Amino acid sequence: MLKERIAGLLAQRRPGHSLPRDFYVDDEIFRADMQVVFETDWIFACNVVEIPRPGDYLTLKVGDNPVVVLRNRDGEIAAFHNSCRHRGSLICQKERGRANRLVCPYHQWVYELDGSLINARQMPEGFDKAAHGLAPIHVEVICGMVYICLADEPPSLARFRAGVTPYIAPHMPDRTKVAFTSTIVEEANWKLVIENNRECYHCAGNHPELLVTLVEFALPDDPLVKAQFQGLMDRSAARWDGLGLPHKPAEGGNEFRCIRLPFNEDCLSFTMDGKPACNKLLADFTEPDLGSVRMFRVPNNWNHFLSDHILHFRVLPLSANRTEVRTTWLVHEDAVEGVDYDLQRLTEVWLATNDEDRVLAENNHRGILSRAYRPGPYAPSEFMLNNFSEWYAGKMGDFTGGPQARIAAE
Ligand code: FES
Ligand SMILES: [Fe+2]
Repeated sequence: MLKERIAGLLAQRRPGHSLPRDFYVDDEIFRADMQVVFETDWIFACNVVEIPRPGDYLTLKVGDNPVVVLRNRDGEIAAFHNSCRHRGSLICQKERGRANRLVCPYHQWVYELDGSLINARQMPEGFDKAAHGLAPIHVEVICGMVYICLADEPPSLARFRAGVTPYIAPHMPDRTKVAFTSTIVEEANWKLVIENNRECYHCAGNHPELLVTLVEFALPDDPLVKAQFQGLMDRSAARWDGLGLPHKPAEGGNEFRCIRLPFNEDCLSFTMDGKPACNKLLADFTEPDLGSVRMFRVPNNWNHFLSDHILHFRVLPLSANRTEVRTTWLVHEDAVEGVDYDLQRLTEVWLATNDEDRVLAENNHRGILSRAYRPGPYAPSEFMLNNFSEWYAGKMGDFTGGPQARIAAE
């Protein structure tokens, strides 16, 4: 029934238009999204520098699935279902912490950091501890970014890894530390949060802080470039070519996007005056004018890699109309707060922008509830929404086994 219903909605979908309403507001479709997208694809979880020492852990929820991501005794990143193998209790109950071993608070079963069960008190002789380890989750680390996949057979990340590494690795994310983390909840469907992020058509009317520094075009051949930004683009490209830093758009199809774009003239970072937010530049950079590498990957992650800091954004759906957005600011590992950077200066542009985007997504969600809502046409500058909805329709089409699946496979 659900598959037929989704197939029917997909058949109503008009390419180049926003999605039919139920994809944004319906509880049953939300559960399908979790199953089809979030429990099968790679999900951005955190950066390795958020859990720097063995035993450091961080928890998150992927749909209904509690997950713990940790650094094990070998210094490697691992992830497990955060559900005890005794009677299923949550084990790690804080958002983050440090533990020598994972102890379930319910009846104190004890797990090693590799997930193996090492103590189950009062269980009878012959109880098979080896058969009751924590269920592992696939992990891949790409330039410090931790992606997890709940599927038994995860899809390949090879193209993504190869595509983004040359852009990101020079910023040396492994040599950073967390300066600040913000988590907000938006009363909007996760797809509206992503769609809002995928276009800057809304920027001029809504983001005064961001537009101090951000250029509104998304590609070097955008007509806006010809009109206003050609000199800036050419000078930036020549500088980055000289430094051996890639900048042209990577071939990510609908899966990911990676590009280096300049800031506005004379601007170097996301600050209210365009000057660097952190005086200690990342990596071994001496050149502050590196624009930003903008990297997005479906379904839940976008990032900016600058000369002086890194921003990660993580989107986790909570329900059909609630979505968590977590932002992490990373600076050089040796940067000192109050000396090299001021926290307010570092964070004010994106804290304001996130809140503005929250309002936009929430109003979008409310308006879609109207009985008068009809999918509307994307503007040319909203081409990335088209990529997103094609990708989403392909996923859902695969699930229903309908014609969308065949189109996606061709
Ligand atoms: S549920 Fe974890 S020890 Fe009982
Ligand atoms: Fe925005």
